[in-house]
Amino acid sequence: MVPLYRCPNYCASKAALHHWLLVLRWQLRDTKVKVIEIFPPAVQTELHDAKYQPDIIDGRNFGMPLKDFTDETMEGLLAGKDQISVGTSKIAFNSWEQERQKGFAKMTEVAKAEADRKAAAAAANGKAQ
Ligand SMILES: NC(=O)c1ccc[n+]([C@@H]2O[C@H](COP(=O)([O-])OP(=O)(O)OC[C@H]3O[C@@H](n4cnc5c(N)ncnc54)[C@H](OP(=O)(O)O)[C@@H]3O)[C@@H](O)[C@H]2O)c1
Repeated sequence: MVPLYRCPNYCASKAALHHWLLVLRWQLRDTKVKVIEIFPPAVQTELHDAKYQPDIIDGRNFGMPLKDFTDETMEGLLAGKDQISVGTSKIAFNSWEQERQKGFAKMTEVAKAEADRKAAAAAANGKAQ
């Protein structure tokens, strides 16, 4: 949810995935499929090890301890949440991410109302013929 200066392609893929999930959840809203998104902060995994990012010093200690992350994530999953922000990612999730999702809901509402109006007009036109 926040771009990192050192990895544009990584950030672009995460941003794309986020919008894809928002739309997918909306499209599947009337089905039994639940789309769950987890928003992790930096977590102490092998991702930051020298093997993958040699310029990061002591990368394994970078971010939230893995057990704390998995405990908090499991809490969210067990509570039935479909968007689980963990640790410091709550700062972004509870602020500008809410604005993004309000914008998405508003645009969807307007576009859906227009599509419904056109469908109703087309149906009425069909009946009249
Ligand atoms: N750690 C963080 O700070 C952090 C923060 C935000 C988001 N994330 C995201 O969380 C996800 C997991 O990251 P992580 O921190 O758990 O990293 P990680 O410890 O490096 O684990 C990555 C996992 O992905 C698997 N993998 C890598 N390439 C693969 C491929 N081509 N096909 C199938 N599996 C592959 C690895 O399998 P092998 O072990 O078999 O190689 C490993 O189990 C990533 O998408 C990462 O971007 C991580």
